[in-house]
Amino acid sequence: MNGPSPTPGEIFYNSLASELKPQEVPPPVHGPQHRARQARLAQWIAQQGGGIAVLAAGEEIIRNRDNPFPFRSHSDFLYLTGFPEPDAWWLMRVDDKGNTETVLACRPRDAEREIWDGIRVGPQHAAQRFSADRAIDLSSLDDTVIALAGDMPAFYAHMGMDAALDERLRHWLSAVRAKGRAGVNAPDRIVDLGAAIARQRLIKDSDEIKTMRRAAEISAQAHVRAMAFTRPGHHEFEIEAELLHEFRRQGAQSVAYGSIVASGPHSCILHHRAGSRPVRDGELVLIDAGCELDGYASDITRTYPANGKFTPAQRAVYDVVVAAQQAAVHATRPGVLLSDPHDAAVRVLAQGMLDLKLVAQSSIDALIESGDYKRFYMHRTGHFLGLDVHDVGDVKTPLAAGMITTIEPGLYIRPADDIPTEFWNIGIRIEDDALLTAADVELLTRGVPVQADAIEGLMRG
Ligand code: GLY
Ligand code: MN
Ligand code: MN
Repeated sequence: MNGPSPTPGEIFYNSLASELKPQEVPPPVHGPQHRARQARLAQWIAQQGGGIAVLAAGEEIIRNRDNPFPFRSHSDFLYLTGFPEPDAWWLMRVDDKGNTETVLACRPRDAEREIWDGIRVGPQHAAQRFSADRAIDLSSLDDTVIALAGDMPAFYAHMGMDAALDERLRHWLSAVRAKGRAGVNAPDRIVDLGAAIARQRLIKDSDEIKTMRRAAEISAQAHVRAMAFTRPGHHEFEIEAELLHEFRRQGAQSVAYGSIVASGPHSCILHHRAGSRPVRDGELVLIDAGCELDGYASDITRTYPANGKFTPAQRAVYDVVVAAQQAAVHATRPGVLLSDPHDAAVRVLAQGMLDLKLVAQSSIDALIESGDYKRFYMHRTGHFLGLDVHDVGDVKTPLAAGMITTIEPGLYIRPADDIPTEFWNIGIRIEDDALLTAADVELLTRGVPVQADAIEGLMRG
């Protein structure tokens, strides 16, 4: 067909189930470092003596009748392949010297289905575009795995994550064992592939940092838009719509998690999803929302007054949370654990609880020791961020340059007889995304203001 060249993702109708021109093959969701990531994984598997890695993209999940939820590949699969379709598998055979063979299994082209759902890449094009040595039709998956697993010492796969995968592994193992009489050795170990890929995913490569920076920028602009839009009388869902508009307007494909827009008493519900409540004069609005861009999450929380001006009580609590976040930012650097910024934030929050007379204890140490501060601060101060909003990595992971974490202290004061009424229904969280650098951190999400004065200025403007 003559005419203008398509941009990536643009499909000519006459390509349906006929041979795709190279420029018509959709690009990887994210790239182009998949080969380098595969090589790092291969090196580790070789050090363990070699084996065959098996990784599934996942399947479409039906929402109702023939209507599926939007498909999104398993993050480990995206990380290593960038291949966007459901029902795909990635295999890598690694010998003990580190020689590899990679195979992508995917759905065949299908003229009927493509009329409804759009182009499938198909095995003919999948290998060249998606970082595999060869691609096969999904129907050959079992035979291919069984052939590649012969004489390999181990399977590398997600273990205990999915019953169907566990069963499939059992089937593959028994099929390879059945070849024992022909002199083929079967793997005698299954090693958890998720843990190995998690160690890699913790440190973001240059492509990942670029994408996450952009996702953070878009989300910050969405928060600015929502803040500037808010007036008493607007419903939570209208404010959510402003966020979504900005995410999509700037090319983000999705939200990274269900957007939290919590007004008044809802601000004390940690994961309140935007609902139909109108925002009232004198109340706070807490927004915890971030887009997903090319598979990568962002995660920002801001809390602001619906009418543009904090009450004295709101401002007093707000400034405690700002100070707690600042302390946590200072405590976030290579070498520490996520518990260090958490402890730093808790100390400032606890001091604030004492100063505001929300608690009866006489000392900050007594308040922390007793755990009574958890009445007002009951969550952790941060988590790793990446392909998943609550990304790989845990409290035992020492921070290192190239990791990205959130820093998100808060205070949540529900109505109670022992609390002065001016503090009732004040729920405040402030959350930024932090890239660990060689010495400290860079905050990626400061495109939206944090200081109370700056927020009031934005809302006045
Ligand atoms: N939005 C969930 C979180 O902040 O961890
Ligand atoms: Mn969040
Ligand atoms: Mn978070």
